[in-house]
Amino acid sequence: MSQSISKGCPSPVAWTGRTVRLLDQRWLPGRECYVDCDSVDAVADAIQSMVVRGAPAIGVTAAYGLALAARDSDDLEALAQAGRRLKSARPTAVNLGWAVDRILLRCRDLQQLADDVLVEARAIESEDLRANHAMARHAAECLQGTVNVYTHCNTGSLATAGFGTALGVVRQLHAEGRLGQVFVGETRPWLQGARLTAWELAMDGIEPTLVVDSAAASVMRSGAVDVVITGADRVTADGDVLNKIGTYSLAVLARHHGLRMMVVAPTSTVDLDTTSASEIEIEQRPAEEVAAWNGQRVAPQGITVYNPVFDATPYALVDWIVTEQGVFRPPAA
Ligand code: MRU
Repeated sequence: MSQSISKGCPSPVAWTGRTVRLLDQRWLPGRECYVDCDSVDAVADAIQSMVVRGAPAIGVTAAYGLALAARDSDDLEALAQAGRRLKSARPTAVNLGWAVDRILLRCRDLQQLADDVLVEARAIESEDLRANHAMARHAAECLQGTVNVYTHCNTGSLATAGFGTALGVVRQLHAEGRLGQVFVGETRPWLQGARLTAWELAMDGIEPTLVVDSAAASVMRSGAVDVVITGADRVTADGDVLNKIGTYSLAVLARHHGLRMMVVAPTSTVDLDTTSASEIEIEQRPAEEVAAWNGQRVAPQGITVYNPVFDATPYALVDWIVTEQGVFRPPAA
C-alpha cells in the first residue's frame, strides 16, 4: 500500500487491527511506501532489514509485534519465544529489549492477553511521544540564546513515536525562535541524515545544511556550531553512550573545538544493568552496505569490511544527557 506525502512527517509504525504497518524508510524520501507485517517473523525481519529503525521506533514496533503474537496464541511460552525472536533482530538498541521485557512482565497478571498486550503497546508508544516533548523542553533550557546545532543520523519522528529525541530539541529551538543553523551529517552508510533528517526538517520549514560526515571537523573549526546534539541507542549507568557510528568522532571533535555535546534519550534507552560501554557487544552489519552504493559495487570484490552500526562515546566527552526526567551530567548513575 502507498499513500502520498502528507503534511507533517508520517508515523513510522501503526497498528491496523490486523497488521503492524511500517513506513519503509529504506526508500525515503524518493518513495513513500508501507510494509504490512502480519506475523512476528515479518516484524523481526523488517526491524533487521531497516524498514523501521531508530531505537524508540523499533521498541514500539516490537511491542506491536508482540500484540500480533498474543492475538495468535494465548500461550505465555509462545509469547516469550516471540520476544526472543524480536530481540535478536537488533540487539544493541536497548529500547527493543526494554519494550519486550515490559510486556512479558505485565503478561503475568493479564487476563485478556491479546487486548491487554495491545493496551500496553499503545502505552509504550504514547509514553515515548510524551517523553520526547519533555526532553525537548529540558534540553532547550540548557541552551542560551540562538543555538547552532550539528546533528547526526535521524532522531526525529521517523525514529520515535513522534517529534524526536535530538531532532525534537531542534524543533523546540525552532518553535522558540532560537534556532540558528542546523548541520546534518549524511551518516554513512545508510544516509539517515541525508535522506531522513533533511526530509523531516524540510516538512517543518527548517532548512538544514547537509554535510558529508568527514566535513564535521572543518565545520566545527569554522565557528558555525555551538553544540552537537545526538540521540542514543543505549546509555549505560555511568553515562557512556552507544549511538550511530560516528557519534564518538563528533564528541571528540566537539571537545577539541570547545563545543558542547548533548545526548537526548528517553529513560527507555537507559540500561542501568550495564555499567560501561565496554560490556556491550556492538552489532555489525553486512559488508555490502559499505562496499556497494545504490546496489552498485564500488570496492573490490573480496575486500575486508568492518561495519559496526554504533560506537561508544565515553561519558567524559558528554556534557548533558537529557531524559524526560531531567538533565544529567555524567557520570550519571
Ligand atoms: O541504525 P539506526 O538508523 O537505527 O540508528 C539510529 C540511531 O543511531 C539514532 O541516533 C538512535 O536510535 C537514537 S534517536 C531516536
